[in-house]
Amino acid sequence: MADMSVKVCGVDFKNPIIPASGVFGYGREYEELFPLDKLGGIATKGTTLHLRTGNLAPRIAETPSGMLNSVGLQNPGIDHFIETELPYLLTKDLVVLANIAGSTPDECAEVAAKLEDTDVHMIELNISCPNVKQGGAAFGTSCEMAAEVTKRVRAVTKKPLVVKLSPNVTSIADIAKSVEAAGADAVSLINTLLGMRIDINTGRPILRNNVGGMSGPAVFPIAVRMVWQVANAVNIPVIGMGGVSSGRDAIELMMAGASAVQVGAAIFTDPYAPVRIVEEMNDWLNSKGISSVKDIIGTVKPW
Ligand SMILES: Cc1cc2nc3c(=O)[nH]c(=O)nc-3n(C[C@H](O)[C@H](O)[C@H](O)COP(=O)(O)O)c2cc1C
Repeated sequence: MADMSVKVCGVDFKNPIIPASGVFGYGREYEELFPLDKLGGIATKGTTLHLRTGNLAPRIAETPSGMLNSVGLQNPGIDHFIETELPYLLTKDLVVLANIAGSTPDECAEVAAKLEDTDVHMIELNISCPNVKQGGAAFGTSCEMAAEVTKRVRAVTKKPLVVKLSPNVTSIADIAKSVEAAGADAVSLINTLLGMRIDINTGRPILRNNVGGMSGPAVFPIAVRMVWQVANAVNIPVIGMGGVSSGRDAIELMMAGASAVQVGAAIFTDPYAPVRIVEEMNDWLNSKGISSVKDIIGTVKPW
């Protein structure tokens, strides 16, 4: 058995695999399939200040090698998370990353501040949501807005702060540098890529929201490229995700520079994917005689 442990911002993970936010709820349903403590961590469903019912259905569309979603941050609100979901997760032996979102920097800070007196291990700030005050442009699409929301959240929390980046930008490395300068302890990427499908018989978009976020195996090469670019641009750890569905994918993302790996859409086709991926990584490391998964982080040898 290889040493599968990694450390991100001083937090110990027993292995690098984390179900991504929005695909694993708060873990309860999956506990019927496997013990949650087989996972390195869990990124919980994006949580906002108040309960949100999300977008109208249809909210999911299948695509070749992936999916589109426009769930619209359906969640029970931060107070419910703190009172009901977090205490349950904290009884498990895994790192809890509370994924948070808001429609203004103040709202994001208010959500983060509520977590300060809890034992949650890390905060993952999703900056892909539209900044209502700035006319609806996503925080994560401008260096200034990304830095502003990071600063506001940084000011209210001493917890390790992971800022989750949007891939819908010209230079994700520039956004990563601006959130690093604003006080992020780590970055995670990629969130979904904006996509659209149309039912040609009705002429209507398949998603009720018209557009949605693309994820799954089809986006994997984009994730590898972005993780590599960001890992070379910042001095803080990178948590990688986007299309990972096998141990080999996770190893590849770590070679690109990721210190840990989240698994999203793959869980919908194989609910055991996160646990299988840990086993497949271990088998690969053993077959290569590599004793610690840490030894592969950032080892890509670019031409
Ligand atoms: C149904 C669904 C819901 C999601 N909800 C969230 C969310 O609430 N917060 C967030 O930061 N990312 C959310 N994501 C994005 C994923 O966490 C992940 O960044 C993205 O799907 C890329 O990984 P994948 O290709 O492995 O799915 C969601 C993705 C899906 C498919």
